[in-house]
Amino acid sequence: MIVLQIEKLKEQIKNWKKEGLTVGLVPTMGALHAGHKSLIDKSVEKCDRTVVSVFVNPIQFCPGEDLDKYPRTLEADSELCKNAGVDIVFAPSPKEMYGEGYILSNDFLTYVIPPYFYVNKLCGKSRVGHFDGVCTVVNKLFNIVQPDYAFFGEKDAQQLIIIKKMVKDLNIPVEIVPCPIVREQSGLALSSRNKYLSSEQKEQALVLSKILFNIKTCYDNGIKDVEALKDTAFSFLNEHHDLEYLEFRDENTLEEKTTADNNTRVFIAVKIGDVRLIDNILLK
Ligand code: PAF
Repeated sequence: MIVLQIEKLKEQIKNWKKEGLTVGLVPTMGALHAGHKSLIDKSVEKCDRTVVSVFVNPIQFCPGEDLDKYPRTLEADSELCKNAGVDIVFAPSPKEMYGEGYILSNDFLTYVIPPYFYVNKLCGKSRVGHFDGVCTVVNKLFNIVQPDYAFFGEKDAQQLIIIKKMVKDLNIPVEIVPCPIVREQSGLALSSRNKYLSSEQKEQALVLSKILFNIKTCYDNGIKDVEALKDTAFSFLNEHHDLEYLEFRDENTLEEKTTADNNTRVFIAVKIGDVRLIDNILLK
């Protein structure tokens, strides 16, 4: 069932809670693919009821980003959800989420601002304000749905770490369930933004997973020095790849590592044409 109104959803959730049912939330921006499906499957398996939110959240897009062209495929998304056993697809409009005549600036809207240390690096460096928008909408979704469990993909590992931190710092009564990255056979991590890639660019996009898998192999073979591990990446890069970052950081605190260990996550962002892709791998 598709629900567009917050109040209607809250009513339904209230009834479930009265019956003592557990509720899982899978927050998404739609354009659902097998990566989202893996989160949905986990929620359906673990919880009595599952809500999938489909909301292209305007406040997490920076000026000049792809808000307008972000794929919107609600019909196909709800079909996927129905077949996967989802109880409610919550698809509010921006007006429903942020109010009549909303003005998306923190002069007019209460924001949840994650700690500077977590956002001044990796994607937060080029996407200023992005994680404020993410935390604000996720917090709103938690308040509306009051889920027992919420499912997030490790593909957006910085986002996942920041959301865990928000939940801890604000004592939000929800358990965050991290879900592994789903990849195409080629190694390419699934992402709604892969839709922007031409077939040639899709080939070039394999550079992210190739670099990460190679680093993991080198680490497993005993190379722990981060500079030495970083150096292994350069042979994979060519003129089609604009490397934004390749960083080794603590899996929980995002502190930078000079020596890799089992808590080290390697983060990469590469621009291919106009398309910015991210990926990561945990060295363990
Ligand atoms: O990861 C996403 O798709 C979004 O950032 C999220 C968590 C649904 C918030 O809009």
